[in-house]
Amino acid sequence: MARCYGYGPVTFRSFDSFQGLPAVEPGDYEIWQEGQFAFSRPDFERVLSQKGFKRSDYQIVEGFYNDSLNEELIESLEKQSVKASIVYIDCYLYVSARDVLAFIGPFLQDGTVICFDSFFNYRGRADMGEQKAFEEYKARTPFLSFRPYMPYSPLGMSFIVHQEVEPAPQSTAPDSPKT
Ligand SMILES: C[S@@+](CC[C@H](N)C(=O)[O-])C[C@H]1O[C@@H](n2cnc3c(N)ncnc32)[C@H](O)[C@@H]1O
Repeated sequence: MARCYGYGPVTFRSFDSFQGLPAVEPGDYEIWQEGQFAFSRPDFERVLSQKGFKRSDYQIVEGFYNDSLNEELIESLEKQSVKASIVYIDCYLYVSARDVLAFIGPFLQDGTVICFDSFFNYRGRADMGEQKAFEEYKARTPFLSFRPYMPYSPLGMSFIVHQEVEPAPQSTAPDSPKT
């Protein structure tokens, strides 16, 4: 999209274990398994190169999110004044989406698009998977609003983040006389 619309310069940041999914808790409608979707980092970089990405176009953060999405990384990205245009969450599991959402806060800006690739997994239930993590995140961030944007695949859904303006303090001045 960045290329298509001549938008840039953009750095793509990819966060992945390259070992597939972490441990999966058994549960209703759960079909995923530990290690599923494993794709090696060299193969990933080969695909990027074939698609025309230069090494300077992207950064890879390798590791499981509960370890890799840490304070040190947040500080380093903040020092670079990184802000996200698009956050693409394609990690299927509740725990994974939860860790991603806990990480992205400092990088959101008015207009950031958040895409959940498997939003309607688990028969579309709001108390499971990516939706569960998102519901919890929304409850923790009343200062943000999430405008539903586009469903973009059978299971995908996107939202646009807006920063809500703090409500103006109530005036303590006495009411002006009514005429
Ligand atoms: C369905 S694949 C999608 C990969 C990529 N977005 C694509 O479309 O090809 C899900 C990816 O999420 C990664 N993943 C899921 N949970 C993760 C976690 N907790 N930590 C790191 N990577 C995770 C897996 O390794 C896997 O590569």
